[in-house]
Amino acid sequence: MLEDILDSNIAIDTHIMFQPLTPAFASNPYEVYARLRALKAPYYFEDMNVHLLSRYEDVEAVARQGAMVRSLAAVMSEEFVLQEQKLANFHDMPNHEQLVQLSMLEQDGHHHRRLRMLVLREFSRQFVEKHRNMIQQYVDRLLTPLLEKRDIDFVAELAAHVPGHIIGNILGVPDEDCPQLRVWSENIVQYFDADRTEVNKQRAESATIEFKDYLVRLIAARENKPQDDLLSVLIAAKNAGELDETELISLSLLILAGGHGSTIDVLGTGLLALLSHPDQHKKLRSAPELTGTAIHEMFRYDSPLPFFHRYASEPVEVMGRTYPKGTKFGLLYGSANRDPAQFPNADKFDIERAPNRHIAFGRGAHLCLGNNLARLDMEIIFKTLLDRTKDIQCDVDQARYKPGLSARGLLELPVRLIPESRP
Ligand code: HEM
Repeated sequence: MLEDILDSNIAIDTHIMFQPLTPAFASNPYEVYARLRALKAPYYFEDMNVHLLSRYEDVEAVARQGAMVRSLAAVMSEEFVLQEQKLANFHDMPNHEQLVQLSMLEQDGHHHRRLRMLVLREFSRQFVEKHRNMIQQYVDRLLTPLLEKRDIDFVAELAAHVPGHIIGNILGVPDEDCPQLRVWSENIVQYFDADRTEVNKQRAESATIEFKDYLVRLIAARENKPQDDLLSVLIAAKNAGELDETELISLSLLILAGGHGSTIDVLGTGLLALLSHPDQHKKLRSAPELTGTAIHEMFRYDSPLPFFHRYASEPVEVMGRTYPKGTKFGLLYGSANRDPAQFPNADKFDIERAPNRHIAFGRGAHLCLGNNLARLDMEIIFKTLLDRTKDIQCDVDQARYKPGLSARGLLELPVRLIPESRP
């Protein structure tokens, strides 16, 4: 009987209760993900016209599969694409369409590779290490007054300031403009979630216009006066004919906005995971060399970007069923990372977990470009935080998560910092 229910996409609606915008889903999506993983077929989520994959094995296979693409335009007719765009309420927002919906992340094959290769080296482990001192100095500067204040909202007062400053600095945005990057990024990225209201749509389009105008001015200033920053590298590539002006703006915007909210989110959920598991917190304090594996576990345990999608570029077989060209699949990275078939005791937070082949940064051609940088930010923040405090206290039951499917993070994280008394 249960087998029949699990096999039927009609019965699933009542059984699964997949309502990603509800407070219940925000507080614990993992029970719903576990029910999805028990199904014998992808779960069809009508609101987004998407077939959801939730098991590690299926998610990883589709993320790597060449026949699964990001760009629908490359495989379907203009009419089909427009219809999809309207269904998703992604139409009538020309700047967002041109610069965000057609960014490198939404390209495939040769076009995608050409753009990715232009920036790949700058985000390699070796290259991001060059920014270690800059990041450390910034984190030290941020933390000093907060240690005196003691009672802080970790998300608003610390996490929220870091990614914009760091990635802004790398690209070449002046310090004083970095806080604005967060506002634009949030308004743009938020529109990829399930909540596509007209207000959010207008916000995303306006933020794209303001971000574009800002970048146009910054690029003009750098054209005349190149500096030792990523924007100058990209401008040189444009002048050598390797990318055009629109691609330059779109790529810069993607780099500034892509990993912005996700880094803020995982800093908050990572600290919450640690504070909710006092044994793990204590262990990390006494063995800082575990910071690397602890950070990977934070990404696995509460993946900040739990949902991405792919389109079938040809008829494909998924979980034993054939789906036509143009079918949209949802990759639930957040669910795959809690799949007990891949991770023993998957719901346990274990800072020494090894192996830990989590999929929080995706897989295949679109593997997160900023993953080395995101991990370096996390490493420096957590090491500094634990080094400069004797303890961090928090009422973990008060933590509240933001609603949504595409991003997982906290609304706030009030903590008390107990500073280390230094000689
Ligand atoms: C907290 C951290 C982050 C997480 C969890 C994360 C996650 C991801 C994931 C899952 C993808 C693949 C999307 C897919 O499968 O379709 C991706 C792509 C990407 N990420 Fe990140 N990311 C993070 C931070 C960053 C940062 C700091 C940057 C800044 C450079 C960044 C830039 C990008 C870019 C440019 C892509 C597109 C790559 C491509 O299409 O080739 N990410 N990210």
